[in-house]
Amino acid sequence: MAVRNVLVTGCSSGIGLAVAVHLARDELKRFQVIATMRNLEKRQALEKQAGSVLKTTLELKELDVTSAESIRRCVDSIPQRRVDVLVNNAGLGMIGPVESQNMASIQRLFDTNFFGLVRLIQEVFPDMKRRKQGHIVVMSSVLGLQGLLFNDIYSASKFAVEGFCESLALQALKFGINISLIEPGPVVTEFERKLYEEAANMDLSAVDKETLDIFQGFYMAYSKEVFTALGQSPDEVAEHTMKVITAEKPPFRYQTNSLYTPITTLKHADPSGNLPLSAFHQMIFQHDRLFKASLSLLKMLQWRKRRDMDYNKSP
Ligand SMILES: NC(=O)c1ccc[n+]([C@@H]2O[C@H](COP(=O)([O-])OP(=O)(O)OC[C@H]3O[C@@H](n4cnc5c(N)ncnc54)[C@H](OP(=O)(O)O)[C@@H]3O)[C@@H](O)[C@H]2O)c1
Repeated sequence: MAVRNVLVTGCSSGIGLAVAVHLARDELKRFQVIATMRNLEKRQALEKQAGSVLKTTLELKELDVTSAESIRRCVDSIPQRRVDVLVNNAGLGMIGPVESQNMASIQRLFDTNFFGLVRLIQEVFPDMKRRKQGHIVVMSSVLGLQGLLFNDIYSASKFAVEGFCESLALQALKFGINISLIEPGPVVTEFERKLYEEAANMDLSAVDKETLDIFQGFYMAYSKEVFTALGQSPDEVAEHTMKVITAEKPPFRYQTNSLYTPITTLKHADPSGNLPLSAFHQMIFQHDRLFKASLSLLKMLQWRKRRDMDYNKSP
């Protein structure tokens, strides 16, 4: 099979970096990776992890998903503009009470998470249709399937991504192009650190006391616990992404974290939408001790899983 050109966005850190390196290190050398980032001054982490594959199966280019011109420049620089696989990964997070968030930041998030995807598709989709092949892999989230307290804006951007892809996938199939939505749960990356940093600097002066107590006293405390209990590493997500890219029949939706599946399943069990709403409401506001106990149990299971994995790796 011919080597496939894979363009990955947002490779300065986290999942994008891990996906780019995993694909470039493929033992069967099935991929030529075009790892992109908006600011090449942040290249060091990627270059360090890429090591010997740098400038062989991995090349680095500048691409800002909020600029159609930047995307065009990058794609034009690829021989025959050939992008066989697009991994749309670049994204921003946002947490907090909606009344504390300013419109400019909300629009910036949508400009990156949703319009960034649309710009990329506008650039590569016509070429893929002409060639009658291609694979568009989109880093969505479980929050693109199920909303979560104080994640209103971020979740809305991922719902937009999911609706867009679900519609486009029909046309894509007609041209032999696959679309795959990867839906991770929490992943321990810079994303989490940036969220907490932004939350610490947020202007919460317009927020009522009860909401503040829920956000600061409950959400912030438990969010860190959830990342520890359920969080995956970027490498784990990259391995799942590799499976999706190399699948003979790539799935349209793919959740990377089985611990999160019961939560998204609730939604499909009740078309009225009341079941997940009341389950979350009870878990958060009425049975928070049970919630805390479940997190402790999950943390222990995660610890055992990692210990077993380390044990199996050792010679
Ligand atoms: N971490 C999680 O818990 C989690 C869970 C589910 C889904 N996801 C999704 O996974 C994707 C990657 O997130 P991550 O966890 O790896 O976070 P991350 O470490 O913060 O990486 C985000 C990447 O996106 C880049 N980016 C932001 N704006 C950009 C722009 N305008 N143009 C090009 N690149 C831009 C960042 O570049 P800079 O360094 O220049 O800012 C960075 O390289 C996101 O789409 C996120 O929504 C994350």
